[in-house]
Amino acid sequence: MLTELDPHPDASEPEPFAGPDHPIRKITRRMAFGETWTSEHAERMSTLFDELAPEWSERRTDDVKRAPIDDAISRGDLPLAGDWLELGSGTGAGARVLAPVVGSLVCTDLSAGMLAHAPDVAPRLRSDASALPFDDDAFDGVMMINMILFPNEVDRVLRPGGTLLWINTLGDQTPIHLPAADVLEAMPGDWQGRTADAGTGFWLAANRT
Ligand SMILES: C[S@@+](CC[C@H](N)C(=O)[O-])C[C@H]1O[C@@H](n2cnc3c(N)ncnc32)[C@H](O)[C@@H]1O
Repeated sequence: MLTELDPHPDASEPEPFAGPDHPIRKITRRMAFGETWTSEHAERMSTLFDELAPEWSERRTDDVKRAPIDDAISRGDLPLAGDWLELGSGTGAGARVLAPVVGSLVCTDLSAGMLAHAPDVAPRLRSDASALPFDDDAFDGVMMINMILFPNEVDRVLRPGGTLLWINTLGDQTPIHLPAADVLEAMPGDWQGRTADAGTGFWLAANRT
């Protein structure tokens, strides 16, 4: 079940940016719905983001990223006191907002270049989100901002009752995009969620039922 909250008062439509035929959009959907992530995928992705890293934060302003995270923190009923993992944390736009308000946070990304440009607000670890170096049931929350979904790994590392926080900061114009309902469908087992538009994007806070 998906509960749609009222949009945040400042929510707005994103400018056209990436449509359904965007190559990364297609990869995102295929990985969420069961295709295998290969070492070639990982190599191509880390090379791409290593190259983008130096100017990533300047070109994609933290204010745009911040609005849906802030709204999820205030209305998402998140387990803020718990242990959090961020997947695809990039240059730290999400970590800057989440780290001060959660019990603990670990940031992970495939790209060493992106991690190198991230702030020192939480431990950073280079790892592939398709095969995470964490025990089962290790986290109360997993945050993903514009990041490819690997449903089984997210489900594995979340504790029972844990929360997946999925954010697309340009809504359906985000290159790495899945609608909230598709995220729930892609996860193993039955999941429920609450979602809202905020800034130019949306957030989904989802739990396995
Ligand atoms: C679109 S960027 C978003 C970065 C950051 N979350 C933000 O919003 O600024 C996607 C990030 O996911 C990372 N990424 C892509 N595939 C990954 C994977 N399989 N495992 C871990 N990180 C991955 C990329 O290196 C990149 O930093």
